Amino acid sequence: MNIPGLIETAKALVADNKGLLAMDESTSTANRRFAELGIPQTVETRRAYRELLVTTAQLSENISGAILYDETIRQSTLTGTSFVDILIRADIIPGIKVDLGAKDLAGFPAEKITDGLDGLRERLAEYAQLGARFAKWRAVFSIGEGLPTRACMEANVHALARYAALCQEAGLVPIVEPEVLTDGTHTLERCFAVTERVLGMLFAQLYTQGVRLEGMLLKPNMVLTGKDCPEKTTINQVADATVTCLLRTVPAAVAGIAFLSGGQSSELATSHLNAMNSRFKERLPWALTFSFSRAIQQPVLAIWNNQDANIEAAQQALVYWASSNRAARQGNYNPAAVL
Ligand code: 13P
Repeated sequence: MNIPGLIETAKALVADNKGLLAMDESTSTANRRFAELGIPQTVETRRAYRELLVTTAQLSENISGAILYDETIRQSTLTGTSFVDILIRADIIPGIKVDLGAKDLAGFPAEKITDGLDGLRERLAEYAQLGARFAKWRAVFSIGEGLPTRACMEANVHALARYAALCQEAGLVPIVEPEVLTDGTHTLERCFAVTERVLGMLFAQLYTQGVRLEGMLLKPNMVLTGKDCPEKTTINQVADATVTCLLRTVPAAVAGIAFLSGGQSSELATSHLNAMNSRFKERLPWALTFSFSRAIQQPVLAIWNNQDANIEAAQQALVYWASSNRAARQGNYNPAAVL
């Protein structure tokens, strides 16, 4: 196993205050987002939209790596250059989502288990050949009465650790993504307790499976109230709860932490990241950065709206949100700055 190579890639993904662009929506998720805006859901519209993303000039000033999906890693620009080559030439590291989605967990009808371990070794070898240098696997945990169950947590952290070990064997840096969902009315304290429990169990499993922490990234949720919780939180409360939870559970050896946005608005996700970095600057053992999909892409997709005439404005929005998040990594995000 090439541990120095893994560590080098993991470090490069969090270097220079940059973060990741998650553009790995599965076909069904991409179609759902297109449908909300009335954009036709075809291979060609998905390709055209992803071309807009990867060909954005200056993207690499703020983005270190881009997470692709199986369909996208095989696609090219209209002029015939593969997306992977476009990214590599721009000095952006290509990555790939390798899980096969969250499926019903047998015996626990309200919960999910992420599929995709069968045949994963062979799929990782192919993705490495296609140019991917890191991978991503997402597990989801719902909060509710009696949820998440021990069965759901154990099954998912076990799968995450086995995925991570297989990635490292294949020379790909695993991004390990346990997402505690925001659906429901739960409080900040409840989200804290569940996130703390999941991360504690996860790192025990990563240790058991022999995963090298220096050669992986964690992609967690921020600690947030449920979407329908009547209680309102401040930016600083979320920042403090999230960092406290991570300091208690994530070993200092982990190369970096890159948050998912989880349905927060662009401004809120960026403000939370900014507060964490400005309030805890001196105390963080790992880089705290972003790996957002919706919080970066939602404004971009809405501006584009399947119109060639809007490509430039959409790319400007992409640069704006990517650079705002790079500023947030340094505690320098100014929400008043005009788009
Ligand atoms: P969001 O930032 O939209 O939560 O997506 C991140 C991601 O990669 C989900 O797997």
